[in-house]
Amino acid sequence: MKFLFLIAFIHLLPQCTGKPLRWDDCHQHTFKEIKREIAGYSDIAKAIINLAVYGNAQNRSYERLARFVDTIGPRLSGSKNLEMAIKYMFSVLQDDGLENVHLEPVKVPHWERGEESAMMLAPRNHSIVILGLGSSVATPPEGITAEVLVVTSFDELQKRAQDAKGKIVVYNQPFISYKETVKYRLLGAAEAGKVGAVASLIRSIASFSVNSPHTGWQQYQSDVPKIPTACISVEDAEMMARMSSRGTKIVVTLKMGAKTYPDTGSFNTVAEIVGSKYPEQVVLVSGHLDSWDVGQGAMDDGGGAFISWEALSLIKDLVLLTVNEKLLFLLLGLRPKRTLRLVLWTAEEPGGVGAEQYYQLHKDNISNFDIVMESDSGTFMPMGLAFTGSDKVRAILKEIMQLLQPINVTNIYENGSETDTEYWVRDGVPGASLRDDISKYFWFHHSQGDTMTVQDPSQMNLCAAVWTVVSYVIADMEEMLPR
Ligand SMILES: *[C@@H]1O[C@H](CO)[C@@H](O)[C@H](O)[C@H]1NC(C)=O
Ligand SMILES: *[C@@H]1O[C@H](CO)[C@@H](O)[C@H](O)[C@H]1NC(C)=O
Ligand SMILES: *[C@@H]1O[C@H](CO)[C@@H](O)[C@H](O)[C@H]1NC(C)=O
Ligand SMILES: *[C@@H]1O[C@H](CO)[C@@H](O)[C@H](O)[C@H]1NC(C)=O
Ligand SMILES: *[C@@H]1O[C@H](CO)[C@@H](O)[C@H](O)[C@H]1NC(C)=O
Ligand SMILES: [Zn+2]
Repeated sequence: MKFLFLIAFIHLLPQCTGKPLRWDDCHQHTFKEIKREIAGYSDIAKAIINLAVYGNAQNRSYERLARFVDTIGPRLSGSKNLEMAIKYMFSVLQDDGLENVHLEPVKVPHWERGEESAMMLAPRNHSIVILGLGSSVATPPEGITAEVLVVTSFDELQKRAQDAKGKIVVYNQPFISYKETVKYRLLGAAEAGKVGAVASLIRSIASFSVNSPHTGWQQYQSDVPKIPTACISVEDAEMMARMSSRGTKIVVTLKMGAKTYPDTGSFNTVAEIVGSKYPEQVVLVSGHLDSWDVGQGAMDDGGGAFISWEALSLIKDLVLLTVNEKLLFLLLGLRPKRTLRLVLWTAEEPGGVGAEQYYQLHKDNISNFDIVMESDSGTFMPMGLAFTGSDKVRAILKEIMQLLQPINVTNIYENGSETDTEYWVRDGVPGASLRDDISKYFWFHHSQGDTMTVQDPSQMNLCAAVWTVVSYVIADMEEMLPR
């Protein structure tokens, strides 16, 4: 039925070429027609859900991810591990039978933390757990020993600027939200450097702590002295704040052997299912392959990378039985009209470095990018799709999300642009990301706690189902999403 309907449609609209729909063009599908077209995918959506959640592909993205992170471990930008991870993915994507599996060269930052430690010497001896922040300079080999100034905000640092000279500034800012609080990690060293501090220690950007430091990238400013900087646990930050509020003098020795090397060669990893009708048009699904150098990078962003791979695998592996009045169709493997392209970004953590070079290289073809999707906020219990773009596209996505009624994940949220997709979204390409239950995400983020143990196979199955239904239907609809 559906096929006959589509064929009839194509004949009525011979001038349609799958280009972005403009609602005042000669021939565009009306919203009512689009709604009907989307509703026609309900059997396929159910088949995808069944395969991912209950069928042969149950737990597959979880098991693939576990094998990957157990084999490679963490994968910092510029590291040998990241190089191994890319080779590993290149090989398994080929073995999976995907098309156009290839690597696109990019240059990425190479920073290593080296040996690092911090000791409190006064008021008592205490070993402070630290993780140096990405791009930090080293201390001299004997370390920096100085008195501590504790502040809770940049404002307080300004007020006490006279006190900061020659000290180690400890930031004990409260955690409000990642988005709001992360500025202390990004700019803490630069702000402390401006007022003459010799180092800065920053309370980890974490919503919960078991004495674990959480690392991340930081940014120096060109006209400000570069001082060594590391994150400390919430527990140690709070203790030093308590000591200091009692007027107790705190002295710390910080040793960091961090080193920045010249940029190194890396790759974005790409695989496709080539479109049957508009192969030049692209629906991009993605996650980043690099991680921090602690834990396993299973959550950030192993999960996002592997449900994105799973989307292509599920489409390829789907066995569909469709019955119409007289005939029984057996479909082995779906092929959408447009190309479904998997990109595993390199060097997201230093600031979307691989993604920016990908954008520079491919932006000439921007009119062929239908939607850019990245999952980089966890693969816990899915709640829906976050989206950035026009109201018209939002209305279409709302219809598509109705196809996920069988697993009750039908919501659409704001702000669907992630670090690696924002280059496209800024230029008007619709952008989507997976929205899931992030209530524990910042417990583990960028810490030794980011391991396979926080991932859950059934939640990953559901995430993969959402990701696959959305990307497949957009890739297969007769027209591109409107711009
Ligand atoms: C998938 O994982 C769940 C939860 O760990 C388990 O109960 C189930 O047996 C697994 N299914 C397969 C096919 O391994
Ligand atoms: C503290 O550490 C220093 C140097 O490591 C050592 O000389 C000193 O005895 C220690 N103090 C106490 C009270 O243990
Ligand atoms: C742009 O798209 C065309 C058609 O698919 C393709 O042949 C070409 O390689 C693409 N160029 C870039 C830079 O991606
Ligand atoms: C479906 O999800 C919503 C939240 O999006 C929740 O409030 C509701 O209880 C769920 N319904 C079922 C049947 O699980
Ligand atoms: C979404 O983005 C807008 C503009 O960038 C911002 O004002 C808003 O707080 C964001 N909403 C959420 C829920 O993050
Ligand atoms: Zn990430």
